[in-house]
Amino acid sequence: MTSTEKQSEPNQPAVVLRGVQHSFRKFKALVDINFDVPAQSLHGFVGPNGAGKTTVLKLICTLLKPQTGKVEVFGRDVATDYLAVRRRLGFMPDHFSMYRQMTVYEYLDFFAAAYGLPVETRTKVLDDVLELTDMGGRRTDLINGLSRGMQQRVGLARVLVNDPDILLLDEPASGLDPRARIELMDVLRALRSMGKTIIISSHILSELAELCDSVTIIDRGTIRYCGTMPGLLDHQAEYPTYRLTSAEPLNGLRDKLSKSAGIMSVEEIEGSPDVRVAFDPEQLDSNGVLRAAMDAGITVTGFSRAQRHLNQAFMDLTEKGVR
Ligand SMILES: Nc1ncnc2c1ncn2[C@@H]1O[C@H](COP(=O)(O)OP(=O)(O)O)[C@@H](O)[C@H]1O
Ligand SMILES: [Mg+2]
Repeated sequence: MTSTEKQSEPNQPAVVLRGVQHSFRKFKALVDINFDVPAQSLHGFVGPNGAGKTTVLKLICTLLKPQTGKVEVFGRDVATDYLAVRRRLGFMPDHFSMYRQMTVYEYLDFFAAAYGLPVETRTKVLDDVLELTDMGGRRTDLINGLSRGMQQRVGLARVLVNDPDILLLDEPASGLDPRARIELMDVLRALRSMGKTIIISSHILSELAELCDSVTIIDRGTIRYCGTMPGLLDHQAEYPTYRLTSAEPLNGLRDKLSKSAGIMSVEEIEGSPDVRVAFDPEQLDSNGVLRAAMDAGITVTGFSRAQRHLNQAFMDLTEKGVR
């Protein structure tokens, strides 16, 4: 690939989806999908089973043809410019079969040849991807004998052989034990620091919380949120909420505080003596809340912006019931 082919506009998103709908016969799997993925970021794509994650990823990687709407990868339309898109993209499906009687090296060499890498450069490329995925010591092992975590890393090494600028990983952490999952996340961080864009899907939001720069939440073929992780915690919170810590038990004081003007609710925080205070910003600001607490006789020892729990944010954004 020439360097000119790899160049993109500065600040151009890696992926753009606009007005994308997709039906399987009469069933509308994607209702109206719009979101952007910033270039060189680690982006989480999260939703319950059946939400439409795999369908969206297949549209981005040109395995499905868009029916309605537009999908662009680095400014290239996936419908018309699919060869250019494929050259820059690596897709790791959720279930993939491997040639289990091959060694790790034979397997990767086979795909390097399939990608058209010349023999002279292949050894160097394979050494690099084996090192990146920390599989260098396993190159002569049969794939059959590897753990699921290691097979997953060989799958990742396979998509890296083509040196893609964007990686789409469909639920790569599912079925991995905690250690293998953490190790996989470390590899993904290393890839991001090399300037790659990574989209990683999962049905568990908390799994991606520490890893991702930004996140898209999908439910029933509709995007519910697209933005930063901290933004997600604030998103849709009805009233600004602060966490209040007191030196002594609050007991009756809590009732007194909740009756103050502009205080909407005072809730206990499970497993903690602190309370969560929500207020109406039209009537009060955070200083006003602090003043009300002191007027109620509370000795305040801590007062900070409360964030919703990640799982709660996810539950609020997605609907009940299995699809
Ligand atoms: N090839 C297909 N034929 C019919 N229905 C499909 C097909 N692929 C996906 N679906 C349906 O579309 C919806 C979204 O599927 P999918 O994108 O695989 O969701 P996710 O990856 O979030 O679990 C699901 O209800 C699924 O049953
Ligand atoms: Mg899926």
